[in-house]
Amino acid sequence: MIRVVFVCLGNICRSPMAEAVFTDLVEKAGLSDHFDVDSAGTSNYHVGESAHRGTRKVLSQHGIAYQGRSRQFTPADLNTFDYIVAMDSENESDLRQLANRHPTANKPKLVKLLNYARQTHYTDVPDPYYVGRFEDVYQAVLDGCVGLLAQIRNDHKL
Ligand code: 4NP
Repeated sequence: MIRVVFVCLGNICRSPMAEAVFTDLVEKAGLSDHFDVDSAGTSNYHVGESAHRGTRKVLSQHGIAYQGRSRQFTPADLNTFDYIVAMDSENESDLRQLANRHPTANKPKLVKLLNYARQTHYTDVPDPYYVGRFEDVYQAVLDGCVGLLAQIRNDHKL
């Protein structure tokens, strides 16, 4: 099983979107049996809440279902996941600091989603909590998820 977790600040806008988009790509590739996909937030601001209305709307416009609720990323997640995928540089640096404070036997790959993107000019997924434009965010997330899945398939000869 390849375990992937997407991480943003609140786990209500960007990382749930990435979780849903990546899961959809995995299903379409017929690889669901190989993947366990999740998302989490570096903060506890919205724990227990469903995804932001804008995220739910854009996902449904693209025919993707999402039922998840916000949870905070925990040090135990460092031991659970193979790929920890940050939405922006701040999330990545927060996760890196957490990993430095909690050394684990498991050595997950800590990466930033848009390092795998091929089209978008963004290097960080913009935060729609402040600026809206959920469709623009969706396109960047999709671009990154397509590239990330290709990389993981290559890493695992899938
Ligand atoms: P997300 O967006 O990290 O993409 O889920 C945010 C959600 C909530 C807050 C900030 C960003 N907040 O400050 O409450």
